[in-house]
Order: sequence, then structure tokens, then C-alpha cells
Amino acid sequence: MNLQQEKGKQNPSVRVWDIPVRLFHWIFASCFIIAWLTLDNRYLDIHVFAGYLMGGLILFRILWGFIGGPYASFHDFTFSGSEVSDYFKGVLKRCPPRFLGHNPAGSWAIFLLLGLGLSITVTGLLTLGGEEQQGPLAGYLNYSQGHLAHELHDWLAWLMLGMVIIHLAGVLIESLLHRENLVAAMLTGCKSSDADAVSTASHWKVGVTMLVIIISAGIYWFQGYLTETPEQPYQPFLGPVLPDNSLWREECGACHLAFHPSLLPARSWKSMMEQQASHFEEDLYLEEDTLKKIEAFLIENAAEQGLTEAAWKINRSIAKTEVLLRITQTDYWLKKHQDISDAVWEHPKVSGKFNCAACHMDAEAGTFEDAAMSLPDNVEAQ
Ligand code: HEC
Ligand code: HEC
Repeated sequence: MNLQQEKGKQNPSVRVWDIPVRLFHWIFASCFIIAWLTLDNRYLDIHVFAGYLMGGLILFRILWGFIGGPYASFHDFTFSGSEVSDYFKGVLKRCPPRFLGHNPAGSWAIFLLLGLGLSITVTGLLTLGGEEQQGPLAGYLNYSQGHLAHELHDWLAWLMLGMVIIHLAGVLIESLLHRENLVAAMLTGCKSSDADAVSTASHWKVGVTMLVIIISAGIYWFQGYLTETPEQPYQPFLGPVLPDNSLWREECGACHLAFHPSLLPARSWKSMMEQQASHFEEDLYLEEDTLKKIEAFLIENAAEQGLTEAAWKINRSIAKTEVLLRITQTDYWLKKHQDISDAVWEHPKVSGKFNCAACHMDAEAGTFEDAAMSLPDNVEAQ
């Protein structure tokens, strides 16, 4: 530990928050705000980056609580039950004791915020792995499990929002009661002190290292935006690579997009293949052997398998007894496209509901991620 004694001055200014603590505080707060602003799945790449950053910052802060300077150290956190209640009694009498480092209520708030932040990061990783089949847990969880984690993730985020509001109220009350600007202190790191208080070292090297790591990670993560061109549009979070089959692509992609098997349940595909001679008034003329192979591929990867979010939701939106032959007649599809006017469907660049690729850059891949959605130029949804 690197302490500097600063004694004997009148109301000397003492450095309480070192640079790593201040960087942690403000970047952590920014991550929280950014995560709330990027709830729409179209910004999932930003949301997930904010989440990783938050998780990384929390791990750093826990480590810093053991190896960092005074005030940052968890040893300095005063938070026994009686200290907290004494503190609140002081607040009620409008003269709470003043603490240079964290006061008891603040110490509790920090532990709760760190715990909530960590739980949110973990449930976020579970959601990402299960619902999007992305991140380190991709492949270990199915959509339903991811969906469950998602609900928990949402609840925890609301709880944390509540904690943040309480924290802000606490900062405001304490700033007023002690006539001291605590927000400024978290920016400059300094507080005035009349006692023989020690300043903490600035630990600027740790701060610079933090910034270098965060900026490099950001450039690495968002490089798609830097290399984007009209021919190669950046499509963040293009779901998992779905099973493919060349025979299916060739035969079923001859007249229209080869609709991925995950877009309809197995019973629909079975029925469609049984009626191959009257496929929407066309005859497919498939030979028995080819037909069986394609049917097997379709059934094996049908919506029930929940390979993508669309698959999972399409399957749940159809009554178990219903055998639909059109994706465009499933409740989920209809709900997602209800705001699109007839003028758009009839637009020469779209030319029909079944022409998914006109608006979904990943239609061929079958993933239908929000981030890959783009209406053709000059076509407005409403
Ligand atoms: C000879 C041309 C042709 C071939 C080959 C063909 N289809 Fe079709 N398909 C059509 C037509 C025409 C429609 C109806 C389009 C419309 O008017 O909406 C259609 C519609 C569909 C739809 C419904 C789309 C919607 O509106 O949701 C599905 C699903 C489908 N086809 C699957 C297949 C599969 C699977 C294969 C391969 C086994 C296949 N098609 C091969 C001509 C074809
Ligand atoms: C005219 C453009 C257009 C066409 C053609 C189109 N879509 Fe969409 N689709 C949209 C828009 C816009 C949304 C976003 C709706 C929203 O965000 O609520 C969407 C959303 C979706 C979603 C939901 C994505 C998500 O995760 O929220 C799926 C799945 C989807 N479309 C599948 C299809 C399929 C399959 C076809 C072809 C049968 C198709 N779409 C044809 C415009 C189109």
C-alpha cells in the first residue's frame, strides 16, 4: 500500500477515491444506463458489450477491495448492523456522523449493487447462451432455459434500478446534510478533512491499464461497424449457423427462398411433402428418394427443435392440432408483421410476403435476427 501522510494543514484536501475507483464508478454507471437504453434486440451487440464490461468491472472491483488502497479496501467498509442503524438514527436527527470513505449505508449499497450487477451479468450470459445461442454458454442451454434466465435477468435489472435510485437519494441526502458535494468528490477524488487523514495514492497506472483494456476490447467488439460497406453490411449477432442440406436448398430454393425447416413444425412439413403434386398449385415432381431425404431434413430441424428464437416462438404460436402450410399464416409471423402495409408487400422491391430476403439479410441462413432486419431503400414500414 502506498500512503502519503498529509498533516498539519487547515482543512486539507485528502484524496479519498483513487483513479481506479473513480473509473470503476463512472464506467459501471454508464454500463448500467447503456444497458437500459439498448433493450431492443437490434442493439443486442451494444447491450451485451455493456454487460461484459459491467461483469469485468465488478470482478476488478472485488479484487481491488482486497489489493487496493485504503477507502477502496473492503476492510474500510463499515457495515455491521449496529453501525448502520446508528447511522440511520443520525440521519433522522439530521446529523449523521461523517465518514471520509464509505458510510455504513453506502457500504451496504455497494455490496448490494455489486451482487446485483454480478447476478445480472450471469443471468445475461445464460439468456445469451440459451435464447441467442451466442457467447460462452452457446450450445449448453436450450431456448426455454434461456427464456427463464431472461425473466430473472429482467427482474434483477428492475431491482438494481431501485437500488440505484436509493443510492442516488442517499448521495443527495448526505451531500445536503454535510454541505459537501459528493458527486464532485467522486469526480476529483478529493474530500476536505480536518482530522489527520491519509490520502490514498492515485494508482494512475492501474487506471491507465483499465482504460487501455476497455478501449481495446471495444474496438475488437465493434470492429464490424468500422469495416461495414454496402456490399458487406454489418449484422451483429447473426444467430448460430443452422443445419444446412444441399439437396433441400437446390429443390426447395428453385422457385422461392429455401424456407428454413425451423420455420414450421414437423407436422406441417410432413403434410406439405405428402401433397407435393399440389404445392400451392405447383407440382414439385420430386422423386420418391429425393422427397424422403428432404422430408427427413425438414422434420429433423423443424420448429419444435427450437433452433432459433423465431422457431421457438412460431411453434408456441400454433395450436397443436393445427397443420399450417404457410409460415405467413402463423400467429407469430402475423403479429410481427401486422404493421406492414399492403403497399409495402406490393412494392416491386418486396413483391410478396414470402419473399423474406427482401427485408431480412439473414433469410438464407434462416436465423431471422432483429439486427439483420432491413427494409429495402425507399420502403417505409407504415
Ligand atoms: C415449382 C416451384 C416451387 C418449388 C420447387 C417449391 N415451391 Fe414452395 N411455393 C411455391 C409457390 C408458388 C408458393 C406460394 C407462394 C405464394 O403465392 O405465396 C410456395 C409456398 C411455399 C411455402 C409457404 C410460404 C408462406 O407463404 O409462408 C412454403 C413453406 C414452401 N413453399 C415450402 C417449399 C418447400 C419445403 C419446397 C421443397 C420441397 C418448395 N416449397 C419447393 C412454389 C414452389
Ligand atoms: C417487407 C419486409 C418484410 C418481409 C418481406 C418479411 N419480413 Fe419479417 N419482419 C419485417 C419487420 C419490419 C420485422 C420487425 C418487426 C418488429 O420489430 O416488431 C420483421 C420481423 C420478423 C421476425 C421476428 C424477428 C424477431 O426476432 O423479432 C421474424 C421471425 C420474421 N420477420 C420472419 C420473416 C419470414 C419468415 C419472412 C418470409 C416468409 C418475412 N419475415 C418476411 C419485415 C419483413
